[in-house]
Amino acid sequence: MKLNLTVLPGDGIGPEIIAQALAVTEAVCETREHTLTVERALVGAAAIEETGDPYPAETHALCMDSDAVLFGAIGSPRYDNDPSAPVRPEQGLLAMRQKLGLYANIRPVTTFPSLIDRSPLRADLIAGADLICIRELTGGIYFGRPQGRSEDGTVAYDTCIYTVAEIERIVRLAYGYALRRRRKLTVVDKANVLSTSRLWRQVARRIEKEYPEVETEYMFVDNAAMQIIQNPKRFDVIVTENMFGDILTDEASVITGSLGLLPSASMGTHTAVFEPIHGSYPQAAGKNIANPLATILSAALMFEYLDLQEEGRLIRAAVAASINANIVTEDIAEAGKAYKTSEVGQWIANYIKNS
Ligand code: IPM
Ligand code: MG
Repeated sequence: MKLNLTVLPGDGIGPEIIAQALAVTEAVCETREHTLTVERALVGAAAIEETGDPYPAETHALCMDSDAVLFGAIGSPRYDNDPSAPVRPEQGLLAMRQKLGLYANIRPVTTFPSLIDRSPLRADLIAGADLICIRELTGGIYFGRPQGRSEDGTVAYDTCIYTVAEIERIVRLAYGYALRRRRKLTVVDKANVLSTSRLWRQVARRIEKEYPEVETEYMFVDNAAMQIIQNPKRFDVIVTENMFGDILTDEASVITGSLGLLPSASMGTHTAVFEPIHGSYPQAAGKNIANPLATILSAALMFEYLDLQEEGRLIRAAVAASINANIVTEDIAEAGKAYKTSEVGQWIANYIKNS
């Protein structure tokens, strides 16, 4: 098939990990005879510097016009310590999510057998853990208005808003995933405190009746934070609101052994976006040490989303082979045996070309 891809490298390690995910995507397209066209565009701090806008209209037009978007990372320390910065790189990511209508963010958490002892968690607790967190991505406290400060600067406020329609569509999508997996859904909220959470629970309880094949449970987010670490194997599909999903998935990455291993797919109304869950890791930028696997696995999710299942499997097999062969970056390597970002990416691309 023809695959028109928009690539948004972004900030920090973004360009380095994207280069490797792109090399792998090219290798797959080469061996499977797909015609790949790639357009690059600006986002984040890189876009602010060139255009003043972290998600320029040109970038949005390209995204709208393509079959999929491969996204690196966003964020720069230059803005983090400046509370008065008029625009922030992260606003570019949020604008992209909102304008592309990416209301569902799918974050699978699985373990690789040979990395079990890289996790600080006990091997017997995490071996075989396999869960998917479905994070609502265009609502909640990230987008609710009003947001800001009082005139004298002594009070700040954010607003958490959810509508029935927003909750319904993400909960239904989560049931779709549960039906194709182990048929267990955990709805995570804070219904003992938050009124948005009580609406989530009310809506989910109604939809639950349409899916009697799925076992549904409700869990407060603080309890979920504990259980994800204490007993990750009890989870199959988790569905939750925007900020809870953000926090729980960074936590869940500990199960896999590195934040550098978790891919994600964001989908909704327009073009889907595939991105690692980690950030721009500015301390590592330009050093060729960042783990490219989360982004390479995001490319696997991209092929699967485009219903090219075999291509997705090919990438997963190549990633597993690289891990088994210890061709890995320093975050998961044994002491003194780390490979560079580009070495890992090239190894995986070659593996695909030769298989
Ligand atoms: C993520 C990131 C973003 C988020 C940041 C960079 C705005 O942490 O994708 O998880 O909070 O959504
Ligand atoms: Mg996050």
